[in-house]
Amino acid sequence: MMTSEWLSVLPKAELHMHIDGSLQAERMLQLAKKNGIDLPYSTVEEVEDAYQFKDLQSFLDLYYLGASVLREEDDFYHLMMDYLLKCREDNIVHAEIMVEPQTYLANGIGFDVFMSGFKRAIADAKSQWGISILLILSLLKHTTEDECIAVLNMADDYSDDFVALGMASTEIGNPPNKFQRLYELGKSRGYNLQTHSGEEGSADLIWGSLEAMQVKRIDHGVRCTDDPLLVDHLKNHQIPLTVCPLSNVRLRVFDKIEDHNIIDLLKKDVLVTVNSDDPAYFGGFLNDNYHALIDAFDLDKTDVLALVKNGFRASYLPEDRVQVFM
Ligand code: HPA
Ligand code: ZN
Repeated sequence: MMTSEWLSVLPKAELHMHIDGSLQAERMLQLAKKNGIDLPYSTVEEVEDAYQFKDLQSFLDLYYLGASVLREEDDFYHLMMDYLLKCREDNIVHAEIMVEPQTYLANGIGFDVFMSGFKRAIADAKSQWGISILLILSLLKHTTEDECIAVLNMADDYSDDFVALGMASTEIGNPPNKFQRLYELGKSRGYNLQTHSGEEGSADLIWGSLEAMQVKRIDHGVRCTDDPLLVDHLKNHQIPLTVCPLSNVRLRVFDKIEDHNIIDLLKKDVLVTVNSDDPAYFGGFLNDNYHALIDAFDLDKTDVLALVKNGFRASYLPEDRVQVFM
């Protein structure tokens, strides 16, 4: 019998979590009031009622609106600390967190402001209870490659703080070859390379991400099952997919959790991992995602352990640290 206590005490890694996606309704309303930002909601219920998404774009519109309440260093501190406290609750001992500078720069907020807030929260969590955190520089596919390169250059002053270069936002209409030069630059600067791909977009876009962007890890990637040759390639090269089950249901990638393909992929030895993506928007943090899978697929402890171990194997931790969790 698998108890929720067993799952909650199990040390876990989370590899796909956008820090802006962890902004909870209460914090959003509090910061909007403090910073004088007009939002179309005034209660937690109104915020949560708005979270009915028909696709990725309908979510992204609200997600960028929500992030517009973040203005001061302290706001970024609280955003990060709220998530790190959730990590403690869910026993996430290692997290790789996506930071999206373009969202803040568009509101006139510089790297010094948000990075100071994030780093102060991480330092506090490390000293208070001990947690391992890496940051991913996540750029936005709906912007131009030149804009992304400008932000990559700005991040040079923080290159020790970012372990990887990734991309999120609108996948369809922004194909991998649009960002080939950006990724060549990212590679030359020593970043690990990953990108969102194959969430709404086809298996072709995943192939493109592997080839034109040279990525070694794919965020989502669930549409790979449209192409058996691609599934074989992912398996043979053990290319990790950071899968987000509740997100995929809320954004209608799958109609219901029982239709999700993550367990099929696990059984085929593809390196799939479980993550929450934007937990404040999709109705669940990491353990909720595991519970949804356990219930829908009647998973036993062996299956859950395989998924949890994949989270460490797919991480950017050095091999000796990974082995601690095997
Ligand atoms: N897909 C693309 N962009 C995103 C997502 C996602 O799931 N979450 C936050 N930005
Ligand atoms: Zn994502």
